[in-house]
Amino acid sequence: MLLQGKTALITGAGRGIGRAIALRMAGEGCNIAFTDLVRTKQVEETEAALQALGVNAKAYIADAADFDQAQALVGQVVQDFGAIDILVNNAGITRDGLLLRMSEQQWDDVIRVNLKSAFNYTRAVTPVMLRARRGSIISIASVVGIGGNPGQANYAASKAGIIALMKSTAKELGARGIRANAVAPGYIDTDMTQALTQEVRDSFVSRIPMRRAGTPDEVAQVVLFLASDMASYVSGQVIPIDGAMG
Ligand code: NAI
Repeated sequence: MLLQGKTALITGAGRGIGRAIALRMAGEGCNIAFTDLVRTKQVEETEAALQALGVNAKAYIADAADFDQAQALVGQVVQDFGAIDILVNNAGITRDGLLLRMSEQQWDDVIRVNLKSAFNYTRAVTPVMLRARRGSIISIASVVGIGGNPGQANYAASKAGIIALMKSTAKELGARGIRANAVAPGYIDTDMTQALTQEVRDSFVSRIPMRRAGTPDEVAQVVLFLASDMASYVSGQVIPIDGAMG
């Protein structure tokens, strides 16, 4: 039980990678507060699956890109759970397009939902973790935030920003017992990537030395490690999870 009695807040965890992280952590005894945009059937299923693991779990509806909502939500979670030991900035979207055709809206949406949300929640949990003199913050970046990707200038920039946000947070808050890291998944099989055409998916797989997509749980296991005391001296890092793609 790596996280027995701890509480994690995970954004955008109704499905996909966030959901896998929530389930992995709950399996290690961690109470889970998670957010999503809308109370869908998937969100309800996730909440029920977590509770079935015997931990406290609750879904909150909030737009992670909204600063005021993040402040209010963190206050509510502290009231409901008594603590936030772990924050996972997971909420994210894609609005792909070549630079020549990328609209201002596509740029702004991706920067708001992917990067500003990570700032919103990191900012909101900072006083809570400072008071506790401990905490682990993990943000889901991407290999494209390290290497760039044609058609994803907005997404890659948002993920590079997340990496710099985590490194800065680690340096600012390290003396107070707070760690901050990013993971950089490659191509992971989720609803987000199912939206790509079969041709694009095949071309991704052909460029991966391990010749397959990763699973959400393979990301979750690395996030679990970073959240736990097994990573007690790991901070300010970005760990690729990409089958040697990067
Ligand atoms: P997904 O689309 O399956 O899940 C994303 C979740 O975030 C959904 O439940 C969605 O409703 C929620 N969400 C979206 N906007 C939100 C907002 N404004 N506020 C709150 N929740 C919001 O995506 P997936 O694949 O699980 O991705 C999770 C994270 O992992 C994202 O940050 C993504 O960029 C990142 N990632 C995914 C990769 C992949 O290949 N699937 C690769 C690298 C990174």
